[in-house]
Amino acid sequence: MAIRITIPGILRLIFFKKPNEILAINDSSMVQRSLSGRGGLFQRSMAEKFAIFRTPDGEIWPAFCNRFDPLRAKHQRELEAALADISGLLARLAPEIAALATYICSGRADRPQEVIIQQMVGRLFFSDYAASEESYDAANTLQTWLTGGPVKAYLLKLNGALQRALDQIIGLARGNTSCAHATALAMHNMVKSIELMRELARKDNNLKELSPRQAVTRTLRAPERVVREARDGGSVGNIRLHARSLVIFCVEAARLQSLDIGFGFFASEWNRCPAHAIVPALLAEIWQQAKTISARHV
Ligand code: HEM
Repeated sequence: MAIRITIPGILRLIFFKKPNEILAINDSSMVQRSLSGRGGLFQRSMAEKFAIFRTPDGEIWPAFCNRFDPLRAKHQRELEAALADISGLLARLAPEIAALATYICSGRADRPQEVIIQQMVGRLFFSDYAASEESYDAANTLQTWLTGGPVKAYLLKLNGALQRALDQIIGLARGNTSCAHATALAMHNMVKSIELMRELARKDNNLKELSPRQAVTRTLRAPERVVREARDGGSVGNIRLHARSLVIFCVEAARLQSLDIGFGFFASEWNRCPAHAIVPALLAEIWQQAKTISARHV
């Protein structure tokens, strides 16, 4: 059952939490990822938030591009193919995997675990990607801009932190918008998973008893929400969408009801996350190595 919130002239929102409804609407040509900014003050403010996610020469970051954007689809295909080399990538990321496994076991790491995670994600693209506390702050700034309230967003823009963060992320990503997306936005899902793995490892005999697969199932997290716009009014099945509504998919809430581990990545859909296989593989390897370290210390 969708939840609708309408305040004329201010906002028109419709939230979806059921996996089958989300998949049906996601697949419909009635909704788009790009936002027109029309229909209310809130719609305008969300469109302004989305508008900054483009390179200086105008290329829009992939998760804000429409389905039939040819460059988006080409980048998605190429990245998915590159990320299919799971064993090669696990070998490349061995230092970060080992550092995160140690963190899960002991709660200690020689750098903040979020920085290690950002570097691990960046090294999926460039083997010499180097994250720092400053680059992680930049990722946080962009995440806060996207999901935080209007006062925080205003201040980030006013004091120049937003532009500095964008410049830093896109600079480190060498202009690659998929890398920028992954190291600024997608990485926060992995930060949550690693924190949950640490909590799991501290309790009971979990580190000894849970297999990597069980640990991944218990700690994988999807984005809380992704946003679309219904441009023209109409219906998808028996769901009525009004023109200019913002359509919010509550992906994490829906994932919890879905039996499909790929749901949180839209793994069988046009907008599938190119990292749908490598992310669970990385988390599984980190848990496995944490188990090995803890067995050595018994
Ligand atoms: C736990 C980790 C992750 C989760 C749960 C996740 C989930 C998702 C979801 C749900 C989308 C679709 C968003 C939408 O349609 O609005 C998406 C898109 C995307 N993700 Fe991920 N992601 C994760 C990590 C990553 C990583 C590590 C990378 C890169 C190495 C990545 C690259 C992308 C890209 C490039 C897109 C845009 C695909 C397109 O439409 O062309 N993601 N991801």
